[in-house]
Amino acid sequence: MAKWIVASAWPYVNNVPHLGNLVGSILSADVFARYLRLRGEDVVFVSGSDEHGTPIEIEAIKRGVHPKQLTDQAHEYVSKLFREYMISFDNYTRTESPVHKRFVQEFMMKLYKNGYIFEQDDVLPYCPRDKMFLPDRFVVGTCPYCGYPYAHGDQCDNCGRLLHPTELINPRCAICGGPVEFRKTKHWFFDLPKLRDRLLKWLKESNLPPNVKNYSLRWVEEGLKPRSVTRDNKWGIPAPFPGAEGKTIYVWFEALLGYISATIEYFERRGEPEKWKEYWFDQATRTVYFIGKDNIPFHAIIFPAMLMASGDPYVLPWYISATEYLMYQGEQFSKSRRWGIWIDEALEILPADYWRFALIKMRPETKDTNFTWKDFYRIVNSDMNDDIGNYVHRVLKFIYSRFDATIPEPGPWSSEDEEFKQYYLSAPDRVAEHLDNFRLKQGLEEVVELARRGNQYLNARAPWEKVKTAPEEAATIMYNAANSVATLAVLLAPFVPASAEKLWRMLNLEGSVHDRGRWNEAKKPMLKPGHHIGKPEPLFRKLPPDFPDKAEELVREARKKVMEKRPPLLRWT
Ligand code: MF3
Ligand code: ZN
Repeated sequence: MAKWIVASAWPYVNNVPHLGNLVGSILSADVFARYLRLRGEDVVFVSGSDEHGTPIEIEAIKRGVHPKQLTDQAHEYVSKLFREYMISFDNYTRTESPVHKRFVQEFMMKLYKNGYIFEQDDVLPYCPRDKMFLPDRFVVGTCPYCGYPYAHGDQCDNCGRLLHPTELINPRCAICGGPVEFRKTKHWFFDLPKLRDRLLKWLKESNLPPNVKNYSLRWVEEGLKPRSVTRDNKWGIPAPFPGAEGKTIYVWFEALLGYISATIEYFERRGEPEKWKEYWFDQATRTVYFIGKDNIPFHAIIFPAMLMASGDPYVLPWYISATEYLMYQGEQFSKSRRWGIWIDEALEILPADYWRFALIKMRPETKDTNFTWKDFYRIVNSDMNDDIGNYVHRVLKFIYSRFDATIPEPGPWSSEDEEFKQYYLSAPDRVAEHLDNFRLKQGLEEVVELARRGNQYLNARAPWEKVKTAPEEAATIMYNAANSVATLAVLLAPFVPASAEKLWRMLNLEGSVHDRGRWNEAKKPMLKPGHHIGKPEPLFRKLPPDFPDKAEELVREARKKVMEKRPPLLRWT
């Protein structure tokens, strides 16, 4: 049994996450963590609210409040939403957590003492009207690499390149919109070039997927520059370096360390304060990160470099699953233009499992993917209902009404019966093959395929006729079908945890479908002859035919409802 850290990117809590944020990190990480637990693996699943940095500060300025007021409200609200989506975090914490702040300061001091942090003058944008330096998102300009006109001082949101603010073409102040001056000021830098060779070697030998590996290799080979780790902002974790009073740590250099501090906090709460080291200091631990593609340079270069420079025996990232973007009806989600669906609104329209299922089916694994209401409608009505829901209901209803709610003793086996049995009992391995390789979408597709084959099996074998003419054959068919439904329940568990549990109850099986080690049990028939099942109820419901046309209206209504439920600082004005 391997040890795993499943890590999901920490969402900035300057707003409510949208569906793209959800599938890009948290939901994907949850499906994977749930799958590992079903496999009986030892998993710690962590994330938290990223509450420092200029995305938060800018929003707080707009609202005229202190950033902490905003993040207190947002952290509580998004934590509740993640529970409603049944995200199975072992610890969902926040960067204002005292454990995190202390860990970050100690860690950064280690880098300093090890000679990886140095002091240097930097030339940075300054706004003479607002009388302040303009870190990161406080400055906007055209990206010199891709021409995107709204790149920030630290990164271009369009091409993902990390930038230095002097590279921006036509830089402007994000507060007043006016031109900026460049002034000299002292900062503390992380000596990335010193780690170049180690990074290159590690990247080349790593198990990282091509999109992450190639991007990172290119960046290292083009030449790494030192990155500043301090900022002039007040909001953030105070920089611990001698002489750095008044400066804070650049949000990325601390948020990444949250993966470790959240593990520490988790074990402290359990009364085992040293146990985190058994995970992070063991080279056999598999650390897996679920992130959007714009986070690649931070997870594949900066974070491993920090771990190397600490001098402690941290395990480096084992895998980074970086998704492309989910678009909403052809365009990027945009809060300012209210374009998209936010995760609280979605829950006003349908329960979490519908979104979980549809989002994983649309997971942008290899290319930007468009969320459309037509696709959503098709996924819910044909995959979830016609294939899965219908199969489950046909089988359970038939057993309930024609076999006295009892799994029959199988009679003679035809080759078709044998074949179907081999098929469903090997389904866990087929799904696993995809999930082990982070193809969550194909994994789910393989689960749907099991239900499709089940429906075909019933159609071909017609037990409703056999029950009159050859009852023993009908018994074999229904024994087989019922067991395939039990296997299906386990395979659905990582994707639609509430529905899978409901199905488990209907099957009247012991414990929970989410119990550790179920995955292997699902490779054998789990329902014995003579076992009684509960009263079948439909697993999912269908959407009405006019749903795609009405969807926008439903979103508008949902938006109205959530505005009253949101904490005041997260309401749109
Ligand atoms: N808040 C960042 C974003 O939304 C992600 C931070 S991931 C972490 O892009 F590793 F730094 F936590
Ligand atoms: Zn760019």
